[in-house]
Amino acid sequence: MSIVIDEATLTFTLNTRSATYQMEVDPHGYLLHLYYGTRSKGRMDYLITYADRSGMCATPHDVRDRTWSLDWLPQEFPFDGAGDMRSPLIRVRDARGIYGCDLRYVRHEVREGKYALPGMPAVYDEGPADGAQTLSVTLADPRIGLEVELLYGVMPELDVICRAAVVRNAGAEPFTVDRLQTACLDFTHGNFDVITFSGRHAMERRLDRHYADHGSFRVGSRRGMSSGQYNPFMILCDRNATENSGRAWSMSFVWSGGFDAEAERSQYAETRMQMGLADDRFSYPLAPGEELIAPEVIMTYSATGLGTLSQNLHRCIRTRVVRGEWRDRPRPVLLNSWEAYYFDFTGDKLVELAEKAAELGIEMLVMDDGWFGARSDDFRALGDWYVNEEKLGGTLHELVERVNALGLKFGIWVEPEMVSEDSNLYRTHPDWALAIPGKDPVLGRDQLVLDFSRKEVRDNIYEQLCAVFDQANIDYVKWDCNRNIVDLYSATATDQGRVLYDYTRGLYDVLERLVQRYPHILFEGCSAGGCRFDAGMLYYTPQIWTSDNTDAVNRLAIQYGTSFGYPASTMGAHVSACPNEINWRTTPISARGTVAMAGGGFGYELDLLDLPERACEHIKQQIALYHKIEGVVREGSYFRLSGPADEACAWEFVSEDGSMAVVGMVLLLIEGYGAARYVTPRGLTPGAFYRELTTGAVFAADALMDSGFPLPVNAEPYMGRIYRFERL
Ligand code: GLA
Repeated sequence: MSIVIDEATLTFTLNTRSATYQMEVDPHGYLLHLYYGTRSKGRMDYLITYADRSGMCATPHDVRDRTWSLDWLPQEFPFDGAGDMRSPLIRVRDARGIYGCDLRYVRHEVREGKYALPGMPAVYDEGPADGAQTLSVTLADPRIGLEVELLYGVMPELDVICRAAVVRNAGAEPFTVDRLQTACLDFTHGNFDVITFSGRHAMERRLDRHYADHGSFRVGSRRGMSSGQYNPFMILCDRNATENSGRAWSMSFVWSGGFDAEAERSQYAETRMQMGLADDRFSYPLAPGEELIAPEVIMTYSATGLGTLSQNLHRCIRTRVVRGEWRDRPRPVLLNSWEAYYFDFTGDKLVELAEKAAELGIEMLVMDDGWFGARSDDFRALGDWYVNEEKLGGTLHELVERVNALGLKFGIWVEPEMVSEDSNLYRTHPDWALAIPGKDPVLGRDQLVLDFSRKEVRDNIYEQLCAVFDQANIDYVKWDCNRNIVDLYSATATDQGRVLYDYTRGLYDVLERLVQRYPHILFEGCSAGGCRFDAGMLYYTPQIWTSDNTDAVNRLAIQYGTSFGYPASTMGAHVSACPNEINWRTTPISARGTVAMAGGGFGYELDLLDLPERACEHIKQQIALYHKIEGVVREGSYFRLSGPADEACAWEFVSEDGSMAVVGMVLLLIEGYGAARYVTPRGLTPGAFYRELTTGAVFAADALMDSGFPLPVNAEPYMGRIYRFERL
């Protein structure tokens, strides 16, 4: 049993394969957190020390005990109103505008299977074989009719515990939720580092590591989208934790809107890690009978460093967040028209490109931005989702047939949440854009954001998209989103404080309808590259365009950072032309191929017709190699062997049974008459021998995992190489 409850003491223990999570209802009715660590038996209530910690620490009226205060007790769902002055998970204002609540335990229940959240992304189970269970614990404050149902979804085999919360108005008066975080982890002691992933457009998710000192370290997004500035993923770990050692905990937000993530060290050297909805411009009114769901947080724990932590998340996201027909299937090697032609294409030009692509072994042509309405540049036509047949020289159906006849699948780009001022949609429905009456709207890439909190707006876009997808044999859709929400006014909302939340729910509504209607379509998420790369989107789109930056060297840092929280199978990665369009660096095609093949959404993004024959030959070889390794890349265990700041950045995929390992590396330190560099694989079968398939050299696994193997000396700058080791 994953969930064990001692009914006498109301101690709840949640067990996964290698971790135990424990909490208890204390005699005053508060739900205290006891433990999240290495799998263990017994009751860990001794970890809390009760002592007079000064009368300055507040105590509820009925407790009246100076050795007891929520200001330092570790909790499951800390709230504003009973004396805990650290950062709360919930803040509520009653009908009279008064802040403060008092949430105490009322009931609990265990359900078989993992809970689902209606209309929202969440980890799912695949029946009894997963052994998943749900613990529901309800806390309530009868004074204001507030009920909070805490949901714990235990996924024992994945070593993951999911949390969500449902806030209900069970009373007779309305109240407003002004702050709502989903989960926290309260540590009674320890010195931790906090790891987050920051960036910007075209340089997303680079790793930051700080000491979680007194005060609060907080990242988040107030952009209405999860953002490329900060990823909704946070790790807390022992200060000396490495890839292979030390304890580490993480929280991943299954939500694509704004978020807050925080690590706070208290006056008593306790640490609280928490994650939830962005406070910014959020205040959600709940009438009697209404409820509000705090989106899911996936938590995992590793006693053996950051490597295991990432592997837990990879398994969870790859197999129980990503859904649908494409979850376990090889993804077609694609050619995207964007960096080849930008807006400047015709149907004939695309077919010409597809002919060359077919010759090289590419399996799908993606027609990027520019095929609809009057879209000749990025100043117009978003919202007008009808095919520009003049530009394509025929119908979409005809174009797709021509491409299909070459043996290629066909994909298409859309940006459904947006509208251009210069569009028929905007001219007809100006109030469908989020804009503040009387104020000039703030533009981003010259476009406005559609009000996806409104059903009629969503229905219109859904129907327009269906009309396009129904016209032709579409196998792939790239769903883009190229700006953030600045102006927040919805013409129909009863309260503007709910609009950002409802917008994201609206986005999920449209995506869900589309994935249900077109189960065979492979959806790829995108937001100016990787500016909305989160577990929420991955519930609908099995892969996400990792970054608009396709420079192999910058991509090492971006994909390295992304790998901490997300599996390779979710990363769209393409080989592009050199010098690179973003940073003008030139790297050999070996590096670009090696780095792009570290993603499950492998492809090309260049004008094939403009390439020398030698490069075309190279592409053919890359694709042949990709087919040999893609299964291990998509499903294998991932190891970060070194990082983007090292002399060589190297990574490894090992098949589940250990029979195959794929090591990728790019040389970064370039010196004359250089020293030898080595890469040391991991995860091989001890005692076994492995053959490297390109050279035929045979290695003993134990020596390989001890001393590594040498990389080429005096190689060309940024040389990339893939090594394949097969167990003998
Ligand atoms: C965004 C995407 C690009 C491309 C363009 C098209 O920037 O990240 O890949 O699709 O939009 O306008």
